[in-house]
Amino acid sequence: MNKKNKLILEVKGLKTHFTTKRGVSKAVDGIDFTLHKGETLGIVGESGCGKSMTSLSILRLIPSPPGKIAGGSVLFKGKDLVTMTEDEMRKIRGNEISMIFQEPMTSLNPVIPVGEQIAEALRLHQKMGKKAAWEKSVEMLKLVGIPSPEKRAKQEPFQLSGGMRQRVMIAMALACTPEVLIADEPTTALDVTIQAQILELIKELQTKIGMGVIMITHDLGVVAETCDKVAVMYAGNIVEHASTEQLFANPKHPYTQGLLNSLPKIHEDQDELITIDGSVPSPYNMPAGCRFASRCPYREDICITHQPNLINQSDGVKVRCWKYTDEWTGNRDKEGVI
Ligand SMILES: Nc1ncnc2c1ncn2[C@@H]1O[C@H](COP(=O)(O)OP(=O)(O)OP(=O)(O)O)[C@@H](O)[C@H]1O
Ligand SMILES: [Mg+2]
Repeated sequence: MNKKNKLILEVKGLKTHFTTKRGVSKAVDGIDFTLHKGETLGIVGESGCGKSMTSLSILRLIPSPPGKIAGGSVLFKGKDLVTMTEDEMRKIRGNEISMIFQEPMTSLNPVIPVGEQIAEALRLHQKMGKKAAWEKSVEMLKLVGIPSPEKRAKQEPFQLSGGMRQRVMIAMALACTPEVLIADEPTTALDVTIQAQILELIKELQTKIGMGVIMITHDLGVVAETCDKVAVMYAGNIVEHASTEQLFANPKHPYTQGLLNSLPKIHEDQDELITIDGSVPSPYNMPAGCRFASRCPYREDICITHQPNLINQSDGVKVRCWKYTDEWTGNRDKEGVI
C-alpha cells in the first residue's frame, strides 16, 4: 500500500455501549484506527468482541435504544459521522460507505425484486434513469456470479438461496462504487469457489476505484490473502494493530498468539484445533485489569489490577499488553517471545 494514499476514515476513541436491565454492556470500548484510499484493514477476534458493533457504529446503524455511541468520533474525509444529521447519513450510507452485512436479510427488502432494490439505490444515489439503473443492476448481479441475472433480477429475496442473497447484497453494496466498503464476514455463507470470486471482485474494484475496505472475518486465511493491516479485537478493545506481514511473522499479544496457534495446521500431523482456554469476560462486567488476563499464560499481578494501554512499539506495531512495557518484571517468557 502506498503510504501517501489519502486518509479517508479515521476512528478515534469510539465507544458503543448498550444500556439494558443487566447494566451497561461496553460492546465497543474506545477503539482507534485509520483507513486510507485503496487499503484493506482486517478486523479479527472471537465472537462477541465487538466487530459488528464497530462497523454498525461507523454507519450509525446501532439499534438504539438499547445501544448508543457513547464517545469518540468517526471522521470520514474529515467530517464526523457521529454528529451528522440523519439526512446527511442517508446520503453516505450505501453510496459513499457501503456495508455487506453478516446477515443478508437485514439489508434486503423481502417483498421487492432484488434487481429493483439495486436499481433503486442507483437512482437515488447516482441519479440514474430507470432503464440505465436496471441495466446496471443486472450487470452487477452478473458480476457477482449470479447465473441468469436477467431472470434473477426479477425475483424476490425468498426465491433465492442464502448464498445468492449474499451475492445480491454484495452487488448492491458495490453498485454505487463506494469509497469505503465494510464487509462483515462477507463470504462465510458461501462455498469456497464463490468466496474466492467475491474476494477477487472486491480486490478488482479496489484497484479500479481505490476503495478502502474494512474486512471483518473469523478467517485468518482471508486476512492473509486480502488485508494490508489488521486490528485484533478482544472484549471491545483493540489489543494489537500491525501490518498483516508483521502480525503473522511476529504476533505480539498473547491473544493474537493464541488465535494464530488455533489455526489448523494442515501440513503437520495434527487433527485437533488448539483453542484458547477460558472465555471472554462479560461486557457487563469487565475486569479492572487486562481483559485477557484470566486466559493469559503470562499473567502477572499488574495484569489483574491495571488495564494496559495500546502502546506503539519500535517496529510500528501497537500492542495492549504489560509484557511490552517497562513495568513488566516477569521473566517467565522462556521462549523469548518478547
Ligand atoms: N442489543 C444488544 N443489547 C445488549 N448488548 C448487545 C446488543 N447487541 C450486541 N450487544 C453486545 O455487543 C457485543 C459485541 O457484539 P458484536 O455483534 O459486535 O460481536 P462480533 O465481534 O461481531 O461477534 P461475531 O463474530 O459473533 O459476529 C456482544 O458482546 C453483545 O453482548
Ligand atoms: Mg459480528
